[in-house]
Amino acid sequence: MALPSSSAPVSDRHRQRLAPIATPDRLLLGPGPSNAHPTVLAALSRHPIGHLDPLYIELMGEVQELLRYAWQTDNRLTIPMSGTGSAAMEATLANMVEPGDKVLVAVMGYFGLRLVDMAERYRAEVHTIERPWGEAFSLAEIEAALEQHKPAILALVHAETSTGVLQPMEGIGELCRRHGTLLILDTVTSLGAVPIHLDAWGVDLAYSCSQKGLSCPPGLGPFTMGPRAEAKLSARSGKVPNWYLDVSLLNQYWGSNRVYHHTAPVNMNFGMREALRLLADEGIENAWARHRRNAERLWAGLERLGLELHVPEPLRLPTLTTVCIPEGVDGKAFSLHLLNKHGIEVGGGLGALAGKVWRIGLMGYNSTPDNVDRLLDLLEKELPAFRAASPSVAAVAA
Ligand SMILES: Cc1ncc(COP(=O)(O)O)c(C=O)c1O
Repeated sequence: MALPSSSAPVSDRHRQRLAPIATPDRLLLGPGPSNAHPTVLAALSRHPIGHLDPLYIELMGEVQELLRYAWQTDNRLTIPMSGTGSAAMEATLANMVEPGDKVLVAVMGYFGLRLVDMAERYRAEVHTIERPWGEAFSLAEIEAALEQHKPAILALVHAETSTGVLQPMEGIGELCRRHGTLLILDTVTSLGAVPIHLDAWGVDLAYSCSQKGLSCPPGLGPFTMGPRAEAKLSARSGKVPNWYLDVSLLNQYWGSNRVYHHTAPVNMNFGMREALRLLADEGIENAWARHRRNAERLWAGLERLGLELHVPEPLRLPTLTTVCIPEGVDGKAFSLHLLNKHGIEVGGGLGALAGKVWRIGLMGYNSTPDNVDRLLDLLEKELPAFRAASPSVAAVAA
């Protein structure tokens, strides 16, 4: 059977001449990516070196040590996965779940649902507990669900980027240990920015991303697993059903053997090393305090402007604030105005919060008082024109 053909040759059907890339300068105050630190960008633009070059291998060890520091863990198996946060998320489930394993996912937003989807794909028996989008789980709710389902794994999102909620962690790790349950924690929007004490909290596996609190572009997914998770991995009856994310294979490259697995994205790891070096230079506690301080400055300013915040103060996430779009305002038109006129990106709502909130991120390099003041100033001066959603205002925004 002949393949469908077109009269023009393939080479004429696709554009071949483009101007060199020219990206605009944007201030990324949305859910991520955030702006990368200039010295991270400089590190990324260095010439690649071989991924088995002894100098690169030394750099790999440095990245691992600094990641352990950022997470406050001694986990031997701590590596940046080649891929974004979702790859590292998937690595936790791919390595841990055997068909029929009970996995309990505590869902309080969009990323909890992603964990459910992934766990199902690895043929787990998935159970969920849910909170409305904007709330967190109490310890009692988690305890009741552990007692009811007796899961092999509990998966939780520490910092829910879709809602701006920070899940309190006190006591959850102990409960998991008491029930013989492994604890997976999503720290994509908390690593490097919000206090995390992985070992003290008894977390068995965690993952994150490069593009938020770590001030790198997207492309790497930090991953870590502790001894209880390693024991489950070695006791598997079958192979990890995902070759690329199989930690036992990856560890032959990141561990002592240095055996080729895949060609590492060496420049991304140059950037990661630089980002983590900057974080350690600042001091992790200072970075946490900076994020908190700037978030509080934002929250106070928003409230001064009469804007309502979606999440009550005690559960608010310093890296991501959900602001209720006021009655009568076309939220999308205002965020497009910020982007097109001022080069500032803020996010819109996801899932249950679509059309209801803006999501303002203050992450890593972008968590500064100047950025907060710049955004507040624009909200004060330019939001009022969007409040009366008359056709002429909508036309201006368009
Ligand atoms: C809480 C959370 N988990 C997972 C992810 C997925 O990460 P990525 O988009 O880097 O794949 C994100 C992305 O924003 C997130 O916010």
